[in-house]
Amino acid sequence: MCGIVGYVGRQDGVPVLLEGLARVEYRGYDSAGLAVAKGGALRVHKKEGRVGDLAASLPKRLSGTTGIAHTRWATHGPPSDVNAHPHVDTGCDVAVVHNGMLENAEELRAELQAAGVALASDTDTEVLAHLIAADDDVDDLEGAVARVLQRVTGSYGIAVLHAAQPDRIVIARNGSPVIIGIGERETMVSSDVAALVRHCRQVVHLDDGELATLTKDGFQASTLGRRPSPKQATELDRAPEEYEKGGFQHFLAKEIHEQPEAVERALSGRIEDRFATAHLGGIELTPRELRAVRRIKVLGCGSAYYSGLMGAGLIEALARVPADAEPAAEFRQRNPLIEPDTLYIAVSQSGETLDTLLAVEEVRRKGGRVLGMVNVVGSSIARAVEGGIHLRAGAEVSVASTKSFTNTVVAFALLALHLGRVRDLSPADGERLIAGLRALPGQIAEILEREDEIAAVAERLAPAHSAFFIGRVSGFPAALEGAQKLKEVSYIHAEAYPASELKHGPLALISPEMPSVCVVPDDHLVAKNRSAIEQIRARGGETIVVAQTSVGDLADAESLVPRCEPELAPLLLNIPLQVLAYHAAVELGRDVDQPRNLAKSVTVE
Ligand code: AGP
Repeated sequence: MCGIVGYVGRQDGVPVLLEGLARVEYRGYDSAGLAVAKGGALRVHKKEGRVGDLAASLPKRLSGTTGIAHTRWATHGPPSDVNAHPHVDTGCDVAVVHNGMLENAEELRAELQAAGVALASDTDTEVLAHLIAADDDVDDLEGAVARVLQRVTGSYGIAVLHAAQPDRIVIARNGSPVIIGIGERETMVSSDVAALVRHCRQVVHLDDGELATLTKDGFQASTLGRRPSPKQATELDRAPEEYEKGGFQHFLAKEIHEQPEAVERALSGRIEDRFATAHLGGIELTPRELRAVRRIKVLGCGSAYYSGLMGAGLIEALARVPADAEPAAEFRQRNPLIEPDTLYIAVSQSGETLDTLLAVEEVRRKGGRVLGMVNVVGSSIARAVEGGIHLRAGAEVSVASTKSFTNTVVAFALLALHLGRVRDLSPADGERLIAGLRALPGQIAEILEREDEIAAVAERLAPAHSAFFIGRVSGFPAALEGAQKLKEVSYIHAEAYPASELKHGPLALISPEMPSVCVVPDDHLVAKNRSAIEQIRARGGETIVVAQTSVGDLADAESLVPRCEPELAPLLLNIPLQVLAYHAAVELGRDVDQPRNLAKSVTVE
């Protein structure tokens, strides 16, 4: 969703800000803008549409060594030039960019209007610019920002610029990420490390309730109460190339193809052959504590939730601990019972999904224990949990998650192995699973070598208006995720059903126009899956089968994946479904990496 970029340094900040905005484009947005301070005045430019439109509209000679910029995802007021950030006060002395939502904005707007201030936009953010500019001691910009924020309720990550103080940017955080990037006589700020990778090698994450003043020589952080807040810089764990397509047409294709190496990273240093178990330094639970766990509940949204369903299956199969997954918002909003012997696991690629973050906070408020499986170090969820497993998928830019999904399932397999081996999983079964995990990168590469065959199947699928995805038990989460991938990137309506449920209603929809994608692992349910496929064909439905062993004539089109340890089959069966969705989207000319209406990281409820 929205993105913040700020720069103060020795070079012209305009190209740096535009490049930063381009790097946060993947998060989803509808307008963009920037402000630079120069010669005692602010120059502000904003545009509905893409960052490229903003860049094209800028005056040729626009420059400035200090500036702030933003990509907006509309919340208060529709997408428009006026509602785009930065927002300024009446005299254009103060400019503000803001991620998050102010809860008492209406009240503050009314107060400003009563004082005769004409508000230019529909946004909540604009009030901040007017209030800061009206502060009695705005020469102390950080103090003015702190005083105004004490009057505000809601969430924010902000960056503030003042025309008369062109050597600094003031930033603050409450519930929305703000990351300082430290470079060579230049300092940046962003809501996403993606914007920092080119210029900074070290980062500092602000905590909620903190603000900081950035100058080209560094930063000083404090609390809203103006007490100094010492911060530790950490090395940036992302490289600029991770945010480039590297010869692929789309990030989605690149990220699908990165999966073999991503899985290798997820496994690296985490296997203990001697005891046929996994070594997971981040979970900080003793064997005794792990044995006391009676239930595991996985929380996440969208694909993170589906990966949790796959993970719960792995935990039940290998560790024999009852486990299930639930959409994080559903969980939180039903006032859940938090059981002391349940271990909660929050899954999130971005680490910023608000529904998941709020669920974590709900569990912790009620005394429950939550681990995280998160891909972004230093993200809000990574900081809110009590340890966990870093996904190590690398930067994922395409809105549709692929490698982070796969690495989450690998992380669950490692956790299930670890948990199983402190309980009843035999060393022989531990060794079997380890061999299966080590084989995964090669097996995924093998599937991807047959991309052209899957692309041909996608051509058959692309004309459909609607498709079923069916699977049974361990195959069902793969069907859910396959349907999710197809609908989000190709816009083809896709619905996943347990294969056993077809006959209880959905069979009525089967017709030659309604293809079914059938997920068939080599497990004890093969015969039952074949019978469901036969029922579809008997009603004239087309079948696209993703299996480990050919179903022969039952399939109108088929994609096979290698045989593997049975617990890992859903992970492999999901790979052709990703490729299928990708090629269907390309065939239909969709905006593959930034599908309509979607954002990479969903930071609103
Ligand atoms: C996945 O393809 C989707 N873009 C979406 O469902 C995503 O998984 C969900 O919004 C959760 O995101 P997170 O993993 O960053 O928390």
